[in-house]
Amino acid sequence: MPLETAASARSGRAYPFAIRPLGDVAGAEITGVDLREPLTPELRDAVMAALEEFHVLCFRDQDLTKEQQFDFTLNFGEIEGHVGRLKSGEQYPVVHTVTNLDEQTGLPTATPSTHGNYFWHTDKSYHDIPSLLTMLHAIQVPPEGGDTLFANMLLAYEALPADEKAALDGLHAIHSWEASRKNTGNRPATEEQKRERPPVRHPVVRTHPDGRKSLYLGMHISHVDGMDYDEGRALLADLLERATADRFVYRHAWRPGDLTLWDNRVLLHRADRNYDMATYPRVLHRTVVKGTRPV
Ligand code: OGA
Ligand code: MN
Repeated sequence: MPLETAASARSGRAYPFAIRPLGDVAGAEITGVDLREPLTPELRDAVMAALEEFHVLCFRDQDLTKEQQFDFTLNFGEIEGHVGRLKSGEQYPVVHTVTNLDEQTGLPTATPSTHGNYFWHTDKSYHDIPSLLTMLHAIQVPPEGGDTLFANMLLAYEALPADEKAALDGLHAIHSWEASRKNTGNRPATEEQKRERPPVRHPVVRTHPDGRKSLYLGMHISHVDGMDYDEGRALLADLLERATADRFVYRHAWRPGDLTLWDNRVLLHRADRNYDMATYPRVLHRTVVKGTRPV
């Protein structure tokens, strides 16, 4: 691990690694760190502080096996299992692969087994206790495109007019795996999956431990609790559209070796189809860390 201390260009906060903002609304790259080495408590805390400041962190030039990614992820909490299934019906392993390679042929395809990631969402909001952060390690990425978009929900909330903030206060949305599959036109949830992941209720405006508020929206939502179904969905669709306007979005252009982690509490994200999916492989290893109940 590097010994020199670098100050964030934005906040002036000191970090024990070189860090550089990647955009105005979120994102920073960290260089000169080898994540195969054990993480000291000091470095772990610095990563969490950087995550609070930048929301998306990209460690460049990493070369981790799945086991090493698993070990690195464990520094940040409990690793989540998945309700998602491969086409074969097999459950995703804990470190699983986000890919456009066909399960049978191993070749790139424009219609991979799931396409849910192309809609704005925050990971596992259909859990009672959703995800704190997600890590993707880029193994193979297209020469151009195949980006991931991140929308800053702290800024999106802040930008709302005061009367709209007041109207959202106290609203709760129902999130579920079943609704998620319907919203995205994916294979419907099975009865077993519905039993495994019953609907949950979360505030539409989340309050961060530091007191800041953010919108908690996305494709896993069914409807607004206690509101007419269609009316609630229309309200959230309109809010989502404004909250994901370009001015709130950081676009991550992947390089092979990137290990990118993001804060699901304050961001929405989605994959962009801006590459020729039937030609170029896009393969990333994914781990998800459990968070706390949204309040
Ligand atoms: C995810 C996800 C987006 C992407 O892994 O949770 O939404 O760009 N991925 O692959
Ligand atoms: Mn996701």
